Amino acid sequence: MEIVNVELGDRAYPIYVGAGCLEDLGPRLAQTGGEKRMAVVTNSTVASLYLEPVTRTLTGAGFDPAVVQIPDGEEHKNLAWLAFVYDRLIDAGVDRGGSVVALGGGVVGDLAGFAAATYLRGIDLVQVPTTLLAQIDSSIGGKTGVNHPAGKNLLGAFKQPRFVLADVECLRTLPRREYVAGLAEVVKTGAILDAELFALLEAELPDILRQERDLLVRVVRRCCQLKALVVAEDETEGGYRAILNFGHTLGHAIESLTDYTTFLHGEAVAIGMVAAARVSQQLGFCDATTVRRLSTLVDRCGLPTEVPSDLEREALALAMRTDKKALGGSIKFVCLEGIGRTRFERLGCDEIVRYI
Ligand SMILES: NC(=O)c1ccc[n+]([C@@H]2O[C@H](COP(=O)([O-])OP(=O)(O)OC[C@H]3O[C@@H](n4cnc5c(N)ncnc54)[C@H](O)[C@@H]3O)[C@@H](O)[C@H]2O)c1
Ligand SMILES: [Zn+2]
Repeated sequence: MEIVNVELGDRAYPIYVGAGCLEDLGPRLAQTGGEKRMAVVTNSTVASLYLEPVTRTLTGAGFDPAVVQIPDGEEHKNLAWLAFVYDRLIDAGVDRGGSVVALGGGVVGDLAGFAAATYLRGIDLVQVPTTLLAQIDSSIGGKTGVNHPAGKNLLGAFKQPRFVLADVECLRTLPRREYVAGLAEVVKTGAILDAELFALLEAELPDILRQERDLLVRVVRRCCQLKALVVAEDETEGGYRAILNFGHTLGHAIESLTDYTTFLHGEAVAIGMVAAARVSQQLGFCDATTVRRLSTLVDRCGLPTEVPSDLEREALALAMRTDKKALGGSIKFVCLEGIGRTRFERLGCDEIVRYI
């Protein structure tokens, strides 16, 4: 078991990463001193796979878990299902000393996290991420929330968990496409923050795709460590944390123009990263080798690298302009200076699409 610490003063917490460590959940939670009555929030798919072992470790450690199960899918990350979670927490008699365990991917983590942030003005949260994206990204850093018809993640709060427990064995049951989409965020992490991680991915990709256990623990742990450093530097995204948006400006525009149905988030980000590297090269910030290394690795993962030809440049620019992170038609764009090195550049949305 590897431990990564997120250094946030009195809100600091550990991330436990391992293979087969799900059974440690009960004992770890017991260490936090939470009350017996608590809740596991999960979805129907994850429940059928992992609810039994999770309930077993919790009861074994003396807890009395209530189970709150939501249907699977991003479309359920909304206020109606949040209200459902509150109702169940109240029915179950979870009180201020209780805790919420979020068992699932980013959808469950965001929804359950927001519930924990607000129920009784906030109770303890534990993240047990079961997708690759959730293990290296969404479970760390405290962003929680739900979608609104007017936009994704419009309602939310920062809520740091008491700890995160990531068992890479859970990734074996993940649909292949979801696993590969999660790899896009792994590639992103290397590309923006760690040339060594990027080189490891280039060298060991076949084994990573095969989910070779020790290698996967190493990669997940390193990604968690890097995200933890970014979050510790800038918890509430006042500045530096925006580095994590690399590839996301265009990625979000592609997702929104295709109604969130054509691409998984990681797939859209893959296209966005390659495009962002091209923009960086055109602006003279990085060389052709950097762009080629990134697009080759993305492609070898089995991820898309090109903007679909039927997406109009003007439509992409418009979608970027309406992104909640855009300011007066321009965006703090994350450019690559090389593998593992970035810079922010304020660019107009029209300018960005001209370069891709
Ligand atoms: N809070 C943050 O900082 C942050 C960061 C990035 C993304 N997000 C959010 O995360 C969400 C996306 O998360 P995601 O990609 O994990 O999607 P997801 O939660 O929808 O999970 C993807 C699919 O995999 C299934 N699944 C989960 N674990 C499984 C397992 N071990 N085996 C088999 N199937 C499993 C899920 O039921 C779902 O069908 C989005 O809502 C996004 O906004 C949040
Ligand atoms: Zn992302």
